[in-house]
Amino acid sequence: MAQRELRNRYTAADLAVFTSDEASRFIPDGDGDPQNDTVLAWELLYRLEPGLYDRLASAERLHPGVVGWLPRHVDQIAEVGAGTGRLTMELAGRGRRVVAVEPAQPLRAILRRKLAAAEHGDRVEVIHGFFDRLPLPDDFADLVVACSAFTPSPAHGGEDGLAEMERVCRPGGCVAIIWPNHLDWLAARGYRYVSFPGPMSVEFGSLPEAVELAGIFYPGAAGEIRRRGSRLVPFELIGINPPRDLAFKVLAA
Ligand SMILES: C[S@@+](CC[C@H](N)C(=O)[O-])C[C@H]1O[C@@H](n2cnc3c(N)ncnc32)[C@H](O)[C@@H]1O
Repeated sequence: MAQRELRNRYTAADLAVFTSDEASRFIPDGDGDPQNDTVLAWELLYRLEPGLYDRLASAERLHPGVVGWLPRHVDQIAEVGAGTGRLTMELAGRGRRVVAVEPAQPLRAILRRKLAAAEHGDRVEVIHGFFDRLPLPDDFADLVVACSAFTPSPAHGGEDGLAEMERVCRPGGCVAIIWPNHLDWLAARGYRYVSFPGPMSVEFGSLPEAVELAGIFYPGAAGEIRRRGSRLVPFELIGINPPRDLAFKVLAA
């Protein structure tokens, strides 16, 4: 059965799923149209079909160079916008204590289940929070990180969110934005850039899964994905930059 594309999946009536804190960030004027606002459609996806989102995120794996770049043995780590744990699962063994901050309750539930299944439940605390008001003390972590979550927009970080990430990071610690967009914005705020080379594909579990999820998330490429007949879909084919890069800042000691 044909799947509805993300941009046609939800209507304004679905905005009622937002809590008041979420609404104040994602629909500050009190209304919005997810059929004309993809960012809003993603926020609805996290809350209305979290399992569908998780299937996509699980296929869009991070470049091993990104994971390898992160420090291996630190005391405390804070991740913001942890989602269903694409990065969190990698962080679990790297800090004595890891706190994963995630605003969307359904994503927190999936993340907690995954951590428990991997026996990381006692090492990683999953809590509610937003970039612009992190529920963590000053100088809390050696590494403060966000993956595919931070943008310069106030709803998804912005100036206040970056200041909060830096507040929570101890002097000499590192703030890292993984799979960043708006590199110039981050560079202007003292962030350096690292990118890891090599071909990268979205790694779906099977061809039917690739065809189904492409129909929803990359409809322009769905025909070609079906024609190629492979569960592996090069990022170039779907026209998005691969998760091969990060921007970071080491705070003055
Ligand atoms: C594309 S998902 C990425 C999730 C996860 N980091 C990953 O890489 O799979 C974006 C995440 O940012 C979260 N998010 C959106 N707005 C946020 C905000 N203002 N503060 C913190 N997290 C936010 C979403 O709930 C979602 O989990």
